[in-house]
Amino acid sequence: MMNVLFTSQMVGNVEIKNRFVHSATYEGMADPDGGVTESLIKRYHRLARGDVGLIIPGFMYVHPLGRAYNAPIGIHSDDMIEGLTRLVDAVHEFDSKIFFQLNHTGQQTSPEDIGQTPLAPSSSVRDPINFFKPRQMDETEIENAVNAFADAAERAVKAGADGVQLHCAHCYLINQFLSPFFNRRQDNWGGSSVNRFRFLKQVIQSIQEKVPDDFCISVKLNTNDFTPKPGITPELAAEYAGMLKDLGVDMIEVSCGSSIFSYMNMCRGEVPVKELVQSMPLWKKPVAWLMIRSLKGKYDLDEGYNTIGARSIRPMTGDIPIALVGGMRTLEKMTQTVTDQDADLISMSRPFIREPFIVNKFKKNKKDKVSCVSCNRCLAAIPNGFPVRCYNKHFPSMV
Ligand SMILES: Cc1cc2nc3c(=O)[nH]c(=O)nc-3n(C[C@H](O)[C@H](O)[C@H](O)COP(=O)(O)O)c2cc1C
Repeated sequence: MMNVLFTSQMVGNVEIKNRFVHSATYEGMADPDGGVTESLIKRYHRLARGDVGLIIPGFMYVHPLGRAYNAPIGIHSDDMIEGLTRLVDAVHEFDSKIFFQLNHTGQQTSPEDIGQTPLAPSSSVRDPINFFKPRQMDETEIENAVNAFADAAERAVKAGADGVQLHCAHCYLINQFLSPFFNRRQDNWGGSSVNRFRFLKQVIQSIQEKVPDDFCISVKLNTNDFTPKPGITPELAAEYAGMLKDLGVDMIEVSCGSSIFSYMNMCRGEVPVKELVQSMPLWKKPVAWLMIRSLKGKYDLDEGYNTIGARSIRPMTGDIPIALVGGMRTLEKMTQTVTDQDADLISMSRPFIREPFIVNKFKKNKKDKVSCVSCNRCLAAIPNGFPVRCYNKHFPSMV
């Protein structure tokens, strides 16, 4: 009998040919203006050739004030559409589907990059890595951000993408609005779960007004922020999942962690101390060394570490397909996850960096587990400004 992982799955009106999803993975490969490069096209062409059913490239910034790291893909202007169309075509060549992950990086934007203090729902929480507090957004800035998401979704339609994924995880802007730890507002945008959800609701509704009915709108949701005081918890995530269902969202991908407060929860496994410290300016290195080294051994990877999050939202999501990301490593666990109905789709990031053809190998019974060892050197490549690849054997030094 055919393994359930190789059966198709509908996401909204889009048929995904199997249950494998490439979870959004920042590549550090775009042009300085955010344009799509040949290396990006090659990367996703290869993954599509490897039979990944649904491909979500690394986040795309919707607004110039929400742009982090050195080479992210932009979807903030119409000039991007041509390159994005080529990206879509490369994936469609092999009958894979593609969603664009739309993001505003909020507090994780670097002040040097944008020439001003980064924006957030509230200004109260100091970034413990970069030591600054963000600036609280005013009504106009909130409206501008909502419009930027809607305009970006319209560009995704023009580029031929099959859908979008709103990045509501990992401590970026939407996640911060949803989280009581980061969102301390007492106006229409905070103070209750309904108010904290309002920003995402307006983003979704504005997108719905601009895109065709069969265009997929999906969400990557934190089911646990793991902040020092409660942020999104599994219970709150379940409440938000119910609200997303009411809005007609087509898929929810379950994740966790808020990069600036619990860096390694999002990508459990080894803590790459040396590689992360290498990226810091000299004056920060001693403190960073102590801080990062103290994390070692605390984030060992248990397979499918977001399963508990998926189970907590499932009762609220009805027929909406759930994609599970986070430490999925063996064919056995993936199959069990789908047969037990914890999730409908299996999403991976790090394993695809090392083995873009792993789905084919599973299909041909050539392998039954991925060879990624979760050393997290691919993650440490981001602050070092290196493009994404498997650095398990060798991590370049900065000098
Ligand atoms: C190098 C790297 C870049 C990432 N970039 C993104 C991103 O752009 N958007 C996102 O939602 N998650 C991003 N993530 C998180 C992954 O999508 C995924 O949630 C996480 O790695 C856990 O899944 P895994 O165990 O299959 O790697 C990134 C992870 C890595 C390692």
